[in-house]
Amino acid sequence: MDTSIPIESPSLSRRQLLNFITGATVAATAGAALYPAGKFFIAPGEKTGAGGAILAKDILGKQIPASQILAEPPQSRALVAGLAGEPTYLIVKEDRTLDHIGLVDNCTHLGCTFPWNALDQQFQCPCHGSRYAPDGAVVRGPAPLPLKIVQVAVIDNSILISPWTETDPRTGKKPWWV
Ligand code: FES
Repeated sequence: MDTSIPIESPSLSRRQLLNFITGATVAATAGAALYPAGKFFIAPGEKTGAGGAILAKDILGKQIPASQILAEPPQSRALVAGLAGEPTYLIVKEDRTLDHIGLVDNCTHLGCTFPWNALDQQFQCPCHGSRYAPDGAVVRGPAPLPLKIVQVAVIDNSILISPWTETDPRTGKKPWWV
């Protein structure tokens, strides 16, 4: 009489179940290990006001009063931390008020940040030479799209920045980032 135990490969469904359990265990272990590291690198969610508005901040996360930006000469471009911490240019107008449009300092080619060149009246990306007009429209590629814009408002010396979701005034179309 044959008393040997038959050696069978597990059925496909059993194998899939084992693979699933193994995968879930590995994922749970990795997740538990990476969670504290991830929390360290990802900034905690910022409270937003009506329409997703946030307060403009400096690089240290301190709120910037409007009076500080408005002390700059007219036509200045002041860089602040905007939505999701994105560097954002605010524009001081001739009448010493802030323009209601802010420009996100993130090149639409490959995401470099760029300075404002007051002499040429352009934003000029140092990475691959893209140039943008004062309103963020592309003057020269390789940037494929205009700069992302945001809404800017001043209330009680606080600068509020909120997402721009209406028609893009430069193209007359729905914004590419919405
Ligand atoms: S990232 Fe700005 S031109 Fe390439």
